[in-house]
Amino acid sequence: MSLDKVAENGLVLLGCGKMGSAMLAGWLKRGLPATSVWVLDPHPSDWLNSTGVHVNAGLPEAPAVALIAVKPQMMGDALPGLQAFGNSETLYLSVAAGTPIAAFEAAFGAESPVIRAMPNTPAAIGRGITAIIGNAHAGSGALDLAEALLSAVGQVVRLEDEGQIDAVTGVSGSGPAYVFHLIETLAAAGEAQGLEPELAMQLAKATVAGAGALAEEAEEDPSQLRVNVTSPNGTTQAALEVLMDEQTGFPPLLKRAVKAAADRGRELANG
Ligand SMILES: NC(=O)c1ccc[n+]([C@@H]2O[C@H](COP(=O)([O-])OP(=O)(O)OC[C@H]3O[C@@H](n4cnc5c(N)ncnc54)[C@H](OP(=O)(O)O)[C@@H]3O)[C@@H](O)[C@H]2O)c1
Repeated sequence: MSLDKVAENGLVLLGCGKMGSAMLAGWLKRGLPATSVWVLDPHPSDWLNSTGVHVNAGLPEAPAVALIAVKPQMMGDALPGLQAFGNSETLYLSVAAGTPIAAFEAAFGAESPVIRAMPNTPAAIGRGITAIIGNAHAGSGALDLAEALLSAVGQVVRLEDEGQIDAVTGVSGSGPAYVFHLIETLAAAGEAQGLEPELAMQLAKATVAGAGALAEEAEEDPSQLRVNVTSPNGTTQAALEVLMDEQTGFPPLLKRAVKAAADRGRELANG
């Protein structure tokens, strides 16, 4: 699916902060004409003004997509600006965490095609992963279009139902922060073993980045990759006995962490 439909009929982007800018940069890089994009944002950045897109200007009558990338707490102020496209062919695509599809149906009309997406911050460097789920009016064409737009900032996966989005938030949405904390604590543990802070941090960052890239590229699954580097009674095994402990290691810890994030997502969605 290409972005031709968007180039032809236009895209309205509501909110051009971190996530909105990352996506816009990706679309422009992929050849979407700047003149096909209308951005609404109260404080446009210098970068945004330099792109040649329409900024806070009169909107097209029937854009292919209205993309919502404002913070959930700004939603009430921001959504009325997109109401004119309700109950039509215009696809509403939201990347806002915690705002359910029903809230957009209530704001724009129950006949509106709506797709909810959960991206993550590596989108800023084109290495994100976004999960999408649509309402009954978002057919396969709408899902393909959302996937084409979001694949400008990384991988895209499709969900079966909206209830899965809180688990996705717990794994990939919030996940980058867990990995940043892994890097911090791995570096600190290196310092505790006598390394200089800068060196420990360089080792920790490169190890997480390199292992992540290897896990994505290798044919073996991560558990096999782990086994491959674990010699009996060696150094890795000594550490893994700590980390893989069923009572105190990663398994119960990450289970609790992901559950806490998913529970919080459900709480936020229920207001
Ligand atoms: N960052 C992520 O990795 C990530 C991951 C998953 C989901 N998301 C979701 O993506 C959405 C955007 O997050 P973000 O990190 O990009 O936030 P952000 O950087 O704060 O961007 C939000 C943008 O919306 C603008 N805005 C505020 N009120 C507006 C209005 N009434 N009309 C139009 N624009 C308005 C803000 O302008 P001002 O700054 O001038 O107020 C800002 O430029 C959130 O809903 C978040 O849940 C983000």
